Amino acid sequence: ALTEEDLKKLPEDGLDPENPGKYQTLLEDLQGNILKGHGRDYNVHLFLQFKPDQIDAAKQWIESFAKNYLKSAKQQSDEAVRYRQEKVSGGLFANFFLSCKGYEYLEIEPFQIPTDQPFRQGMKNNNIRTSLGDPEVNTWETGFQNQIHALVLMADDDIISLLQAVNKMMQQLRLVADILHREDGFILRNQAGQIIEHFGFVDGVSQPLFLKRDIISARTKDTGFDQWDSRASLDILLAKDPNGRTEDSYGSYLVYRKLEQNVKAFRQDQEQLAKTLNIQDDLAGALIVGRFYDGTPVNLSDTPTAATTPINNFNFDNDSAGTKCPFHAHIRKTNPRGDTGKVETSPGFDEALEVERQHRIARRAVSYGTNNPTQEPETDSGLLFLCFQADIENQFNFMQTRWANAKNFVQVNVGPDPLIGQPEGTQKWPENWGQAETVDYKFKLWVNMKGGEYFFTPSISFLTTIT
Ligand code: HEM
Repeated sequence: ALTEEDLKKLPEDGLDPENPGKYQTLLEDLQGNILKGHGRDYNVHLFLQFKPDQIDAAKQWIESFAKNYLKSAKQQSDEAVRYRQEKVSGGLFANFFLSCKGYEYLEIEPFQIPTDQPFRQGMKNNNIRTSLGDPEVNTWETGFQNQIHALVLMADDDIISLLQAVNKMMQQLRLVADILHREDGFILRNQAGQIIEHFGFVDGVSQPLFLKRDIISARTKDTGFDQWDSRASLDILLAKDPNGRTEDSYGSYLVYRKLEQNVKAFRQDQEQLAKTLNIQDDLAGALIVGRFYDGTPVNLSDTPTAATTPINNFNFDNDSAGTKCPFHAHIRKTNPRGDTGKVETSPGFDEALEVERQHRIARRAVSYGTNNPTQEPETDSGLLFLCFQADIENQFNFMQTRWANAKNFVQVNVGPDPLIGQPEGTQKWPENWGQAETVDYKFKLWVNMKGGEYFFTPSISFLTTIT
């Protein structure tokens, strides 16, 4: 069996599913999409509530779904190899997730339900909801207001095949579950083909990397890891599956949030900010996000550089006063890249950095709503925010509450993250890029939380033997 040490230390170049060594069992029993995004263009998410007194039928459905549709991390990688060599598409991809209520419905013994606290309490829990700054549950979309037991994710590059598979699945499912809610997501792209979110910024750039292929690619396409080491060990991502049937059965906690984006109002506010600071709109955007539309980090340049692969090997050492990339900027709030080690209360830089890096999450979001990036929707478009982690309290919840929402992180009076900080507040914006004078401006919150839940991603061996 793998030891704690094996999870804390990765091989120098990351896990290699083609030569897994001692990680073989883990990779064969872990669901795909966790170590690396499945990358399919179209996604459907089905939120389920199993019918009362249908436990056996529900278990049978889960078992058959797991046997026929789930793909392991190992299979996901094998398919990617085939795709690169023979251009054979991996086809349909699927995940299955359970909420705590789902485990309880299935009558899993309490000591065998994953133990993470927020997972056990659920996203509707009042303490959790207020600490995240989320709106009242009765304002969420109705589907999310119900008790959710499970989430099915299906994805494909071919939208017709996907919709056919989903239709078939929904017919089977209706016998055992109510489909409370459905989301259809997709990868949004700009004209250059880069992945963006609805406000128009390149997204999915900075991620913790676990796999050899991604690590090698960061070395060749980016400039390596000497300024920022994006490699991460498995202990920030995986948690032992208490119901797994192998000695290396792991899963991961999934945070799911539907985040509506008011694009029109965001752009107007961005213009207003630009006018107030007397700068170009695109620089104003970069002061909000921390990167320009094309991904150029704003602490490195006051204009976009149009690099095909945005740089990620950087830190904020060149901007320790936050006059280029403000401390409130979304990417600086959610990944301070060492800032926490530079404040007075810090125990020392290296220790602080170590702790800071444990808060990282693996983002797997897709967009929903209009698939036309030239439109400026006010409602019904946004991000289906998904992220994986080993410890929700120390990762997603910490990032949202202690960093993004907190007006005194990383220093007093920085203000909340203008993109996602709840509630909104006033930030200090550099009057001139790189100079100390600031102007107060309250950037309003244009991201609206519409519902969500915490899930666990069980090992395949549990799901295929659940009856
Ligand atoms: C990075 C947009 C919600 C955490 C980014 C980037 C963009 C972006 C444009 C920069 C590109 C990249 O590195 O991938 C958004 C939008 C959101 C949203 C539009 C809501 C609609 C969130 C939430 C969290 C989060 C809720 C977690 C609390 C992060 C992290 C990074 C990031 C960790 C990478 C930072 C880094 O390592 O440099 N986001 N985001 N985001 N976002 Fe968000």
